[in-house]
Amino acid sequence: MIDYKMKIAELIAGAADMDAAEVCSMIEVPSDEKMGDFAFPCFKLAKVFRKAPPLIAQEIAEKIADNEMFEKVEPVNAYLNMFVSREEMTRDVVAEALDRKEMFAHSDIGSGKRVIVEYSSPNIAKPFHIGHLRSTVIGNSIYKLYDALGYDTVRINHLGDYGTQFGKMIVAYRKWGNEEDVKRDPIKTLLSYYTKFHVEAENDPDLDQEARNTFTRLESGEPEEKALWQWFRDESLKEFTEVYDMLGIEFDSYAGESFYSDKMQRVLDELNEKGLLEESQGANVVDLEEYDLGTALITKSDGSTLYITRDIAAAIYRKETYDFFKNIYVVASQQNLHFAQWFKIVELLGYDWAKDCIHVPFGLVSLEEGTMSTREGRVVFLKDVLDQAVEKTREIIIEKNVNTDNIDETAAIVGIGAVIFQELSNGRIKDYVFKWDRVLNFDGETGPYVQYTHARAASVLRKAGDDAAKISADVDYSKIRSEAAYSLVKLLHAMPDVVIEAANRCEPSILTRHIIDIAQAFNKFYHDEQILVDDEDEKMAKLALVASARQAIENGLAMLGIKAPERM
Ligand code: ARG
Repeated sequence: MIDYKMKIAELIAGAADMDAAEVCSMIEVPSDEKMGDFAFPCFKLAKVFRKAPPLIAQEIAEKIADNEMFEKVEPVNAYLNMFVSREEMTRDVVAEALDRKEMFAHSDIGSGKRVIVEYSSPNIAKPFHIGHLRSTVIGNSIYKLYDALGYDTVRINHLGDYGTQFGKMIVAYRKWGNEEDVKRDPIKTLLSYYTKFHVEAENDPDLDQEARNTFTRLESGEPEEKALWQWFRDESLKEFTEVYDMLGIEFDSYAGESFYSDKMQRVLDELNEKGLLEESQGANVVDLEEYDLGTALITKSDGSTLYITRDIAAAIYRKETYDFFKNIYVVASQQNLHFAQWFKIVELLGYDWAKDCIHVPFGLVSLEEGTMSTREGRVVFLKDVLDQAVEKTREIIIEKNVNTDNIDETAAIVGIGAVIFQELSNGRIKDYVFKWDRVLNFDGETGPYVQYTHARAASVLRKAGDDAAKISADVDYSKIRSEAAYSLVKLLHAMPDVVIEAANRCEPSILTRHIIDIAQAFNKFYHDEQILVDDEDEKMAKLALVASARQAIENGLAMLGIKAPERM
């Protein structure tokens, strides 16, 4: 599509004898549409030209106003306000949308570069709760944004499937567990054993020692312990997969913490070689005080490695296996220090790619009753949230007599879309309190509202009957010059840049807001203007714009991981 800023910059640069790139960086998009589509402030030019800025604005305006790109160019005080040709911009965006279809707003700026996105990463035999929803949904959208920009992406689920807690779990299972219960409801059952272990261990310190021994046997690959651990992992993963299926989420790799258990020695060796490892009460640590990052515990006094050691091993493995351009971690802000510590350690090990590792933090989710606590039973399971969202949507569909031929499918698309959308509509760093009302609120700036807008556009196209097949970009654009149409066109035109910005900042909410704007602009256009009018040219021009907007909404929702229903 036309890069207006660049085109205008070249024009002004020619007229004012300046550098186009510099001019480009100075061009603004006025927040008030009355000031034009683009504006150029002339203050900075006063020194060079030895003239008052308003005079400069006037002179440049005279030189460039004739260009066919503009409808008009107005000097207002020190500013040059430019109104581009509505017809040209509309033609540009409609042609692009109808031609590129599901690829509209995509690009290939990332081609040849590999980006790893690590997200979700729940812990085995622990609840998959609403806290994990954030990482799962934000990470999935970041992956989709990079994918849309042509990057070669790798999705990794760094499962929490290792650590001394598995020694406890195995001991507890052997003492109090049974196979049928685990099979019936794996995570809740395993969790109850784990909780019982903690209660019993209060009065029986031997249990802890037994758990440590058991973990050591697991680490050295004893078949019985290994088999139990594998079974816990498989059963947990089955439950996680149900949630991923509901959300339409997939991974390329489930290499979790256990995958690195045999890759730890190398990390310790390298830390030693660089003289980074220090002994402290039998444990090994890296002192990061001089970077204000405290002390990182690398091995415990019994020699076992820790979460952070596995992260360092994983990063080295990823660099060597995938040769990433960027290695992104979508993990809660509570782990800020953890990531800052090991990024620093990787840097101190001499790996220049440490700078390409990016922690994308997000805020805390709490319940109205307080923070979540697994031990005290204050947990909201993600599966329950999704099930309830779908159920509630089904009730609304029946109550409102919504137009659909498949209630189950629509309820799933809309209910789950609502949960994902609300998760992505605020800046990720904000903490928030989980409230059922808000997730399931179907009015206002919500997922169902945008999906409904999409279905409405699809319905107009269905009603167009035979004309729908004749939709093309070869229409009379003077028929869609209204304010409402043009506001919509401008938003569609900006969408590819919005996608790039959202990806660069790892912030899907930038795109979410833009899709809401597009939906609102579309609805205004739909209300203000009759679309299926008698005038053939006007009708075909309007249909072309409706088809373009529908496509943009579908593509935008897809980048958030949300489906766009045809009917609703
Ligand atoms: N399993 C961890 C948790 O649930 C998150 C893992 C984050 N990823 C990482 N590479 N450390 O808190």
